[in-house]
Amino acid sequence: MANPIERKEGVLYCERVELEAIAREAGTPVYVYSAGGIRESYREYAQALDGMDARVCYAVKANGNLSVLRLLAAEGAGFDIVSGGELDRVLRAGGDPAKVVFAGVGKTREEIEFALESGIAAFNCESEAEIALIDALAGRMGQQAAVAIRVNPDVNPDTHPYISTGLREHKFGIDIHAVEEVYERARGFAHVRLEGVACHIGSQLLDAAPLIEAAQKMVALAGRLRARGFAIRHLDLGGGLGVPYKPEDKRPDVKSFLGALRRLLTGTDLTLLLEPGRSIVAESGLLLSRVLYRKSNGNKEFIVVDASMTELIRPALYGAHHEILPLRESRIPGSVVADVVGPVCETGDFLARDRAMPQVMPGDFVAVMTAGAYGWVASSNYNARPRPAEVLVDGSQWRIVRRRETYEDLVRGED
Ligand code: LLP
Repeated sequence: MANPIERKEGVLYCERVELEAIAREAGTPVYVYSAGGIRESYREYAQALDGMDARVCYAVKANGNLSVLRLLAAEGAGFDIVSGGELDRVLRAGGDPAKVVFAGVGKTREEIEFALESGIAAFNCESEAEIALIDALAGRMGQQAAVAIRVNPDVNPDTHPYISTGLREHKFGIDIHAVEEVYERARGFAHVRLEGVACHIGSQLLDAAPLIEAAQKMVALAGRLRARGFAIRHLDLGGGLGVPYKPEDKRPDVKSFLGALRRLLTGTDLTLLLEPGRSIVAESGLLLSRVLYRKSNGNKEFIVVDASMTELIRPALYGAHHEILPLRESRIPGSVVADVVGPVCETGDFLARDRAMPQVMPGDFVAVMTAGAYGWVASSNYNARPRPAEVLVDGSQWRIVRRRETYEDLVRGED
């Protein structure tokens, strides 16, 4: 499936389902995901790694819907989690805890205990204090925890500053120049096994070169640690491969990236772990919305839609670009340069700014494209807006995999 979202005779489809049918039956705003597209993206990784000692640990933070996790678990995926809540989701979806790695700078005692009880594969640790806490808790539980230290390889990826993570100035990881001493100081812990090295340099990388540069530095580091007597078994390279959000963006070639990693790791006897999120789900998802109003202020045009920053925060937070397509080609010729905005009371509440848009009119549906990653998961109830439903399409079938929130949901737990 080259692209699970396709226009046929002027009408937009997800796999074999007409999106307008979903918009009408499920209501808007609603997220729609293609099961076939997600499977295919995962398989691209799995097939390129075939025969290698490697595992794909899907980054749950990108899209944690249980049905999405279930279909990836059925493909044999491992999972990268950043919280107890994500671990709970993975377990509920039938994910194998022995294929789970746990990242994050601020793991709490309760989360570490939950992960140890569940028997996860490894912790990616970000500070000495965290390793000490894992050691103490594992000791109390009569266990030995597998640990990789997240290293900051000081590689500068060319991406948005908010999603670049691998520089010394960022809160993530431990500086590659200081990390060997950290391994040395952690050597004495009886209840952790220092068996990995990990990094994640940033997200939405359209050029794989910085990832390969980081991998080179990490393989060299693993070699130096082994020379110091540490039994390093795995290299976790994190996620980061980007997707084309704009028509002119070039999709990085997963196969050639993984081919380069295969060459780099040959003969090293290291297990490779990858934590892709966005590149597995982003292009297989979209957000359906309905046009509410057209208005103009002076010579500025606005298209007011029923989706907003509470459904998709990426444009407001990162100035991110998402294509916005009408579900049916407009009957009115010509286009308009407009801001596409939602109902939320914030000037920053926009889905697109100064965008050349077809002449969509109230009642028309639009699709906010490439929204399968970091969409619903980062949604909020700001302005007391119920979070949207999620729909999974598989071939010619579709079903609601999360119902839309109700006002009742919004007050649950309040006095
Ligand atoms: N592993 C670690 C340790 C990470 O921090 C991340 C993403 C991933 C894996 C997955 O990276 P991916 O393959 O998806 O690039 N909300 C932002 C993205 C934040 C990414 C955070 N970390 C956005 O909407 O662009």
